Amino acid sequence: MAAIGAILGVIGGGAVLSSTVRREDSWLPATTLFDLPDRQPTPVTLSVRRLDGFREVLDRQTIFLVKTGESEVHAFNATCTHLGCLVAWDAEAQVFKCPCHGGVYDRDGNVKDGPPPAPLAKVATRLDGDRVLVQA
Ligand code: FES
Repeated sequence: MAAIGAILGVIGGGAVLSSTVRREDSWLPATTLFDLPDRQPTPVTLSVRRLDGFREVLDRQTIFLVKTGESEVHAFNATCTHLGCLVAWDAEAQVFKCPCHGGVYDRDGNVKDGPPPAPLAKVATRLDGDRVLVQA
């Protein structure tokens, strides 16, 4: 059972978490239910240290968490499916917008406008008490 060291940095609301995870246990704590506003996509950046051959590399991934019910959270990868820029949530227009070529996605990550060929990738989530875990 090979274990790898991982540092999980969560930037969201100023919170920073550190954690060690094993490779086979890829569920990472992202935030808590109490820190997520209802139906408001909230960005979280995860940094995961993993082995790539003999080297350790640091992967950074930005996701949006959306609390859709008392105990339900959906998550999307913030990487635009066109050419990989990071999208941002426009609270006024209630859409995700890509700054690079004008891609627009709805709240569920579906393409509404622009060149993106596919919806934002969904990220699996689960709850452990009030902790929101995401699959890295
Ligand atoms: S990278 Fe997002 S629209 Fe081109």
